[in-house]
Amino acid sequence: MTSEADPLTLVLVGPMAAGKTSVGRRVARKLGVPFVDTDKRVVAAHGPVPAIFEQHGEAHFRALERAAVAEALGTGGVISLGGGAVTDAATRTLLIEHPVVFLTVTPAAVADRIHSGGRPLLAGDDPVGRWTQIFEQRRDWYDEVASVTFDTSRRPMQRIADDIVAWRRELG
Ligand code: S3P
Repeated sequence: MTSEADPLTLVLVGPMAAGKTSVGRRVARKLGVPFVDTDKRVVAAHGPVPAIFEQHGEAHFRALERAAVAEALGTGGVISLGGGAVTDAATRTLLIEHPVVFLTVTPAAVADRIHSGGRPLLAGDDPVGRWTQIFEQRRDWYDEVASVTFDTSRRPMQRIADDIVAWRRELG
């Protein structure tokens, strides 16, 4: 699927706390296109993510997420996906032929970013250990869908956003 609606569409994927939302907002502002966070769309329509996991299970959340991704791609703009969206084969298929930016981050940098809660998969002891394990399980899927990779561990989000904007503009 291509986005006729917006020629500067791009998708951000990557593990939890990689900076998809903060980088995505900045990229969208600079490109002058809308920003869509598919998690926020799901929450707006169906309530908080932990409650969806608890009451209906992860598979149900993935289906809601897939629908939100499809809808966002139809509209276009900068689209930030939840960290686990790539685990769903049908969601990965939706991403084919779209420019996809994979944001990576080290466990050390993530440790400072994941204290706020709201992520059911990191609940409990040792969230950084859980995060690392989940990232390793998903890395091949991120690589499969990615057109390009940027690391967010050590540089300001604005600089990373500027690099992504430059990369996207070169694509035309
Ligand atoms: C998830 C990541 C979250 C959210 C949900 C599940 C995951 O999004 O979609 O908690 O499976 O990695 P962020 O990557 O924005 O934290």
